[in-house]
Amino acid sequence: MSKTALITGITGQDGSYLAELLISKGYTVYGLVRRTSTLPYERIFHLGDSLKLVSGDLMDERSLRLILETCQPDEVYNLAAQSFVPESWSQTILTGEITGLGVTRLLNAILDVNKNIRFYQASTSEMFGKAQEVPQSEETPFYPRSPYGVAKLYGHWITVNYRESYGLYACSGILFNHESPRRGTEFVTRKVTYAVARIKAGFQKELRLGNLDARRDWGYAPDYVDGMWRMLQQEKPEDYVLATGETHSVREWVEESFNAVNLNYQDYVVVDPKFIRPAEVDLLVGNPGKARQRLDWHSTLSFSELVAIMVDEDVRLVKEHGASLKSMDMLRGLR
Ligand code: NAP
Ligand code: GDD
Repeated sequence: MSKTALITGITGQDGSYLAELLISKGYTVYGLVRRTSTLPYERIFHLGDSLKLVSGDLMDERSLRLILETCQPDEVYNLAAQSFVPESWSQTILTGEITGLGVTRLLNAILDVNKNIRFYQASTSEMFGKAQEVPQSEETPFYPRSPYGVAKLYGHWITVNYRESYGLYACSGILFNHESPRRGTEFVTRKVTYAVARIKAGFQKELRLGNLDARRDWGYAPDYVDGMWRMLQQEKPEDYVLATGETHSVREWVEESFNAVNLNYQDYVVVDPKFIRPAEVDLLVGNPGKARQRLDWHSTLSFSELVAIMVDEDVRLVKEHGASLKSMDMLRGLR
């Protein structure tokens, strides 16, 4: 019999890729959207009627209970969050409410409606923060460095705690940074590839960035949603790190992106203190050994391949919609 899944965060990068994956596997897929005055559905329009949308909010436990009663899912993937790290210093309480307590609201709703639902929590390498060992694995102690990291750590532990307290099938995926042409333009990878495309097309003159020395373990988002699904298909619920095992600096990402369109980044990049964070995560690199061994999970793109597909896609996008994208950037302030 075909399975049913509920995805929170359906309008985000990962939600859209996970919906595609589950639909291709024959699932009935519901996506939770929150009520907004305009529709942020650009990543999921193409899925049409194969995706069912339900209205709710991680801030409102009753809405979650009603949704679970309506959808009767076998699996719930909690991808919703205030996920942008810098914003978590200015919207600290909101980040705690959504990214931290929101997990508990959803787990409580699962306890009330059906304890057999399998649950995935979108945990993060940000929880390692000031990394206590290199590379980071499931055994590495946590030391979050942002209110976002702190809120995610709460979400991680409440998932572990409900598994141990109530016997729920609940997994926490500790995912390192994963990117794609669907990444939000506020995150550094897409901010850079999008700017590169606009500079090449003559729409932008410079690119203002923060810390170029931070290092991240960047993978390809479609690989990571496949790992989420694999975690929920095991006999026993456990936590897993998903990562490539390679680390690169922001500077390397910038250099490779500009090189892809035959430009020299030093001619365009300006370091702006506005983008320096109150506390930084200097070095992330994951050890995906457990996921490789137990889930047969592998990341499929190299660093250079990932940069290339993101630059190519943004070059195509800017060619197609140059002028209108320019006004969209002004609205968003391109953080
Ligand atoms: P994203 O693109 O920023 O998407 C976040 C999603 O959360 C959006 O659909 C957003 O809906 C939704 N959301 C925010 N507040 C909500 C609320 N109160 N109620 C319901 N939905 C709400 O994030 P992503 O990159 O796809 O990441 C997915 C998850 O994985 C997030 O939890 C993130 O923290 C975590 N994570 C991401 C990475 C990564 O590298 N991408 C790595 C580790 C962990 P709107 O469209 O309405 O704003
Ligand atoms: N966003 C941004 N903008 N980051 C910049 C900039 C800039 O102009 N300049 C330098 N950086 C540096 C940041 O200081 C950070 O060290 C690094 O680039 C990556 O920043 P982001 O792309 O914003 O991602 P993140 O690592 O903070 O968080 C992302 O990955 C986490 C997993 O480790 C988000 O997707 C989180 O939701 C996720 O949990």
